[in-house]
Amino acid sequence: MENISISQFLVGSIILVAIYVVYQIFDYRSSIKRAEINTQQVQNEEKTQSPPNPEKLEIASLKLMTLKDVKQNNGQGGKNVFVAIKNFVFDVTSSDSYKPDGPYGVFAGHDISISLGKMNISEEFLDMYGTVTQPEDEIANMNSWFSYFYTRYPVIGRLDDKKQD
Ligand code: HEM
Repeated sequence: MENISISQFLVGSIILVAIYVVYQIFDYRSSIKRAEINTQQVQNEEKTQSPPNPEKLEIASLKLMTLKDVKQNNGQGGKNVFVAIKNFVFDVTSSDSYKPDGPYGVFAGHDISISLGKMNISEEFLDMYGTVTQPEDEIANMNSWFSYFYTRYPVIGRLDDKKQD
């Protein structure tokens, strides 16, 4: 077999380099694609994550409270401000919204589940969770509010039996 000429060697090298470059470009493009898919997946997961399910909270470790305990913590006299949603008690003291002169001061020290479902700050809907049948859209509203509170305020207890007062 004859020895390959310099020109053949050069052509061969160029072909190899070209193949390598094409491979690198392809690999780069597919890694971008993979990164895009990953980002998309994370975003989809974030979108589809349902509101935290109260049943999945560490229920056993939560302090059992009564509606009376919640009512006593209405921000008056330097007390903390508690509100209950779906029988879970949130400490909302950190927010100005529930101070007596705040926009939602009427909620301080109450179960506000039905009010949130109805988007209504009237006192007539306070402390009614478990005593009325809520339409589906109001349940959905209430659940998204639950998520809102859950991400912003500590859950400090749960109501044992909201009828106790
Ligand atoms: C004209 C009508 C309303 C306007 C313009 C309004 C406006 C606002 C705004 C701007 C916030 C955000 C406050 C913040 O991020 O600090 C807020 C929060 C809130 N709104 Fe309203 N709102 C209205 C009616 C209502 C009604 C009827 C309800 C009854 C359930 C309600 C319940 C709430 C609650 C619970 C919060 C969360 C407060 C917190 O803990 O940060 N809002 N509202």
